[in-house]
Amino acid sequence: MASSFQTLSHSTTTQRTPIRFSQINQSPPKNPLISFPVKASNFPLRFPAISISKSSFNFTPKSALMAKSEKGYSNVDIFDSEEQVAFELAKFTANLSDHFVSERGAFTVVVSGGSLIKSLRKLAEPPYSDSIDWTKWHVFWVDERVVPKDHPDSNYKLAYDGFLSKVPIPPGNVYAINDSLSAEGAADDYETGLKQLVKTNILATSPTSGFPKFDVMLLGMGPDGHVASLFPGHPLLKESQRWVTSINDSPKPPPERITFTFPVINSSANIALVVCGSGKAAVVKAALSGDQSSDMLPVQMVSPEGELKWFLDKEAAAML
Ligand code: 6PG
Repeated sequence: MASSFQTLSHSTTTQRTPIRFSQINQSPPKNPLISFPVKASNFPLRFPAISISKSSFNFTPKSALMAKSEKGYSNVDIFDSEEQVAFELAKFTANLSDHFVSERGAFTVVVSGGSLIKSLRKLAEPPYSDSIDWTKWHVFWVDERVVPKDHPDSNYKLAYDGFLSKVPIPPGNVYAINDSLSAEGAADDYETGLKQLVKTNILATSPTSGFPKFDVMLLGMGPDGHVASLFPGHPLLKESQRWVTSINDSPKPPPERITFTFPVINSSANIALVVCGSGKAAVVKAALSGDQSSDMLPVQMVSPEGELKWFLDKEAAAML
């Protein structure tokens, strides 16, 4: 069945007619950037039934391998400020863009919602705004709240306001959910859309896992250690077949979301975990401690086939 996976019409300097998906003519959201208002205490752990111990996990989590040496943690970069994190993240992403555009003629980028989007702002500023070949970018969401695209909770709206509206990515290369469907329907639809992109070679596939292999995922982490919409103790942590699935009981509101699954996340060529602020310091320490005694946090299950790199500001790294 064809996907109604939606590509977007937003004002960019480069326009082209999308050929793969139906296009919606939605006006760009009019409201200014609205950041997510929920505090950590608003989404307590609600799913104690599923526990994933490190020994039962079927691959070696890279985060747990990052033993602290005298020089610090490998693959963990700590910067003085969020401003510097944003600058280094832009440099990292621009370098990957150059690499994948010359290697395969496309660059597939997955973003999360949350504060990550604000930290992408330097990509939309010189020198990166001018040097990146935006026409080759394909943008996806690792998770999305099932709300209209102009709703303040929409991860699409967050990214549109914060970043996408400022760079000339072809609208047909921005893959938003079909917000007229239920969470389950939107997840199925998004998965179907990804499968179409694999067929056209826009999206690579991992020869090892058979799941799609995105060039980079830029992910935030919640104060409870969640990534995407994969929450501590939730049964979805064990999903092993689906590419994209739905959740109707997200402890972080809104409750209805779609999310990539761990097999897809972990087939990535690169993942950046971008974490700033003192509110994340305890979970950063827990994630990087390599402690084998407790159940794994979702962030500890992030273990890409390629590279995993943490970008922390000094507040988030304060307990390391
Ligand atoms: C979402 C996000 C989520 C987010 C983390 C971190 O839709 O809720 O994709 O996974 O990245 O909650 O968000 P903050 O950086 O804002 O804490």
